[in-house]
Amino acid sequence: MVGIVRENLLQDTQQNLILSTLPILDLDHPGANDPDYRRRRDEIVTKAITFHTTGPSQRVVPLIEYTSKENEVWHHVSQKLSTLHEKWACSLYKEGRKIINLPTDRVPQLRDLNRELMRISGFQLEPIHGLVSAREFMMKLGEGIMLCTQYIRHHSKPEFSPEPDIIHEVFGHVPMFVHPKIIALNRLIGQAARTATEEQLLWLNRLYWYSIEYGLIMEQGEMKAFGAGLLGGIKDCTNAFSGNCVIKPFTIQEVIKTDYNYSFEQPHFFVIPSLEWLHTEIENFIKSFT
Ligand SMILES: [Fe+2]
Repeated sequence: MVGIVRENLLQDTQQNLILSTLPILDLDHPGANDPDYRRRRDEIVTKAITFHTTGPSQRVVPLIEYTSKENEVWHHVSQKLSTLHEKWACSLYKEGRKIINLPTDRVPQLRDLNRELMRISGFQLEPIHGLVSAREFMMKLGEGIMLCTQYIRHHSKPEFSPEPDIIHEVFGHVPMFVHPKIIALNRLIGQAARTATEEQLLWLNRLYWYSIEYGLIMEQGEMKAFGAGLLGGIKDCTNAFSGNCVIKPFTIQEVIKTDYNYSFEQPHFFVIPSLEWLHTEIENFIKSFT
């Protein structure tokens, strides 16, 4: 089933840049050996691909009928995260959660979240089949759109996912997209990605990763979770505040030379003095691109 879907995708998407990376379920993924999970994931992924292969004027974000098992995973993670958020979420995130209402007992629809976000900030979400290239992903951010997976992690390991899933996208990112300053930062990096050289793209990717994905931020003398990987990740959030990870001040020069692996729990983090400081630093750095 997976193989057949991939072959069809190759034919359908030869002209389509956004789908240039095909879905991969690595052999060490918790769901790799579960045929039901793979089948379900293919169903959801196929809908995302249909979205991108449909003409822009006719695209509609697909609705997913989540199963009771999938809703249970969402509920479990939601409860665990709420305890972590109380202690460690930054104030922007807490404000965002008050503005945009996320269900705790069922997986929300991207279409519903888009309606809310359009009303609040104009930012939008589009479905995606999985990881795409850094340039494609960031260029969409430059347009005020984030590509979001709609499938959920395997039920056997609800506390950590080796890849983005809807828990990461929605719990981690969505509440932040009510804030114009957060959208401006995403757009700044995304617009720079459009014309960046390969080396500059690598720098932008690491700046994005260690801030919007995994950044910590100082608030009134206390370190708080700022990045989506922390706000939407039980393991990574717990680790970041455990005292057992390497935590350094965020500097452009340090961050751009620090590699990462998205599939594993993160071993080190960078602390941002403030969102305004971060925006100015990245803006000045991008201005230096030739
Ligand atoms: Fe993310």
